[in-house]
Amino acid sequence: MITGITGQDGAYLSRFLLEKGYVVHGVHRRTSTDNTERLWSVLDDPNLHLHDGDLTDGGSLTRILADTRPDEVYNLGAQSHVGTSFQTPEYTANVDGVGVLRLLEAIRTLNLPSRFYQASSSELFGNAPAPQNEKTVFAPCSPYASAKLYAYWIVRNYRSSYGMHASNGILFNHESPWRSEDFVTRKVTKAVAEIHAGLRGEIHLGNLDAMRDWGHARDYVEGMWLMLQQGQPDDYVLSTGYAYSVRQLVELALDEIDIEIEWDGEGINETGRNAKTGEVLVRVDSEFFRPNDVNYLCGDSGKAYDLLGWKHKSSFKDLVREMVQADMKRLSPEWRDSDELQIFRDAA
Ligand code: NAP
Ligand code: GDD
Repeated sequence: MITGITGQDGAYLSRFLLEKGYVVHGVHRRTSTDNTERLWSVLDDPNLHLHDGDLTDGGSLTRILADTRPDEVYNLGAQSHVGTSFQTPEYTANVDGVGVLRLLEAIRTLNLPSRFYQASSSELFGNAPAPQNEKTVFAPCSPYASAKLYAYWIVRNYRSSYGMHASNGILFNHESPWRSEDFVTRKVTKAVAEIHAGLRGEIHLGNLDAMRDWGHARDYVEGMWLMLQQGQPDDYVLSTGYAYSVRQLVELALDEIDIEIEWDGEGINETGRNAKTGEVLVRVDSEFFRPNDVNYLCGDSGKAYDLLGWKHKSSFKDLVREMVQADMKRLSPEWRDSDELQIFRDAA
């Protein structure tokens, strides 16, 4: 069973599990417009079943768990945007924190033998010094991270109190062409594709100095699965061990369309210009600042390597290239005329 099946990781994980021969049950939130686009390649698979439910609705979770009695539960569902969590802190706590308790309590009271994966996050580390690993002291800086901290601990509580096979995957940022457009990588790669197509002039961004350890979602879902194949439950960091700034992300993405960028000015007045033409391509916009930000995340996933044999495969440069290419393809005339979702076949 996967919660958050319609999200980026849910799409990759469902495909990964179906290819292994699993029967996959997804918890699907009813929305007024279709939100199953990322599942296009598996929607017709007879081993995929979607069930209406919501992490804020304990009854729906209990019903789905009782009906499906899953061997493995992957809790990927969340209000996953850190910036948005400052606008909707109570809702974020309800979904990302208490939602986890609802699932664990349903599994416990139904007496299910399900193994449980919790989508924990490197946001828990806040501004703790890098490299961050399983021994680093948590210092959450946002309502999102605080909710995920509660979730992390309730998973550990249920593991020690009731002997549940429940594990936290403390995952650093992972992206893909399926990433939502309001995360910085996809926002940048989509904008770069639009600049290339002559559809846009400037990109407006917030904190250009933030550093993140960015990997590929495809690599990370394998790590999730590996955690549930272990004899004992545990908590693991998954990361690449390399960090880049938002500024470097922009440089790499523009390099894909042969534009070199020069940076001028400081703070809110900083701009990024096309080195050849002088045209402004990037402006800093306070709209995208957060009340508090995490400045430097760079993980040490030595434990996952030693115990799970897990290591990332895609480099950041390859990831950015794949995302820019995918966004360019989405804008091309062939794309509009052909199977709109072909891009996902390439990305998967
Ligand atoms: P995502 O693309 O934003 O997907 C989130 C999923 O959660 C969507 O399927 C969404 O459904 C669902 N959801 C939201 N609210 C829900 C609710 N109330 N009840 C049930 N489902 C709900 O996120 P992602 O990048 O795949 O991340 C998956 C998980 O990993 C999240 O828990 C995230 O916090 C965590 N995480 C992500 C990263 C990363 O870098 N990607 C790193 C560390 C941890 P709709 O389609 O209906 O909105
Ligand atoms: N979204 C966004 N938009 N972020 C921007 C922008 C912008 O215009 N400009 C600068 N940034 C900075 C943010 O301030 C942050 O420091 C960094 O870029 C990354 O932001 P996001 O891509 O929104 O991701 P995140 O690191 O906050 O959160 C993601 O990773 C977490 C794991 O560390 C999400 O996937 C979380 O769900 C996940 O837990």
